[in-house]
Amino acid sequence: MSITHENNLPANFHDLVRARCSVRSYKRDAPVPDDVLKRILDAGRLAPSGKNLQPWTFIVASSPEMQEKIYPCYSRDWIQGAPHLLIVKGTRSGAWHRAKDGYSSLETDLAIAMDHMILAAAAEGVGSCWIAAFDRDLLYQALDLTENEEIFAFTPLGYATDDYQPVPKTRKTLEEITVFL
Ligand SMILES: Cc1cc2nc3c(=O)[nH]c(=O)nc-3n(C[C@H](O)[C@H](O)[C@H](O)COP(=O)(O)O)c2cc1C
Repeated sequence: MSITHENNLPANFHDLVRARCSVRSYKRDAPVPDDVLKRILDAGRLAPSGKNLQPWTFIVASSPEMQEKIYPCYSRDWIQGAPHLLIVKGTRSGAWHRAKDGYSSLETDLAIAMDHMILAAAAEGVGSCWIAAFDRDLLYQALDLTENEEIFAFTPLGYATDDYQPVPKTRKTLEEITVFL
């Protein structure tokens, strides 16, 4: 991992994608400052979407009351260390549908927005971890969602504890996953 910026932040895009990692240990008492949070959310706002319909809402759950409702949806205790939970919610009827076969871009749109925000967080030195292994029914109850709404992922946001050791990146090689034709 190459971090060359004077503040220990990734200096360019390639450093950023190498530096980003799933953080599963957070400083509970170190909330992300509002201006940093806004820049992260703005990266999601600027994400591309099918027909530019932007079928999303970004929910930032920072209050202990709201977080207490969400915790039962995801069984890992470490999640409770994060000062914020960022949930990307979509509206089925608000997404682009391909006329010929009805394909909906909703999941793609929401994934791109989430990825923009996760990378923006990494650029700010803020940790995140894509969470999809949640109990969908419990999350729907907690957030009072309708059947027109969908959540594919949420992420904690916060600063990693000083002793946090990222899991080393294990990836297939480019040769394994690339075909040049
Ligand atoms: C679609 C998706 C779902 C994931 N769900 C979870 C999850 O529920 N819990 C978790 O701890 N990590 C989850 N992850 C994180 C992956 O385990 C992690 O990205 C992967 O192991 C690579 O590690 P890295 O993010 O540190 O590079 C998920 C990642 C993706 C893309």
